[in-house]
Amino acid sequence: MKRGYVVLVLATSLGLVVAACGGGGEPSKPSGTQSPADRGRQLANAQGCLGCHSTDGSALVGPTWKSMYGHEVKLANGQTATADDAYITESIYEPDSKVVQGFPSGTMPSFKGTLSSQDVQAIIEYIKTLR
Ligand code: HEC
Repeated sequence: MKRGYVVLVLATSLGLVVAACGGGGEPSKPSGTQSPADRGRQLANAQGCLGCHSTDGSALVGPTWKSMYGHEVKLANGQTATADDAYITESIYEPDSKVVQGFPSGTMPSFKGTLSSQDVQAIIEYIKTLR
């Protein structure tokens, strides 16, 4: 009788340990040592952002990403905006809501539905490294 009880307790705690150690759905970590900025760079490459945006200060179809983060941006409507997370996110999801002065509107495609908010955050982390 006593023995049966011990076995039962052991089996139950084993079950708990297995469940706690992620028998199902371990939170998916980015593989290896890849940082968000690394992932952002790969995304920017894969999504074609870097075909229109340089990272070395030269203007391509769109403005360069060099030194963009945290700086003031002149907009086509004469206003200015600060290139922070919210501004960059808006620029990616609704490129025509704030158009950069000297650059064409209706050129950059919206990435709404293509890039998740984590993707956008990773790209922002990458842009932050471009000083
Ligand atoms: C076909 C060319 C093209 C592609 C591809 C493109 N962009 Fe753009 N982007 C532009 C142009 C042109 C502008 C400037 C006009 C405007 O503000 O919409 C711009 C503006 C921006 C801005 C605002 C820049 C500033 O200096 O204020 C950000 C941020 C941006 N793009 C991010 C991205 C990201 C991220 C991607 C890829 C997921 C991307 N773009 C893909 C053409 C492009």
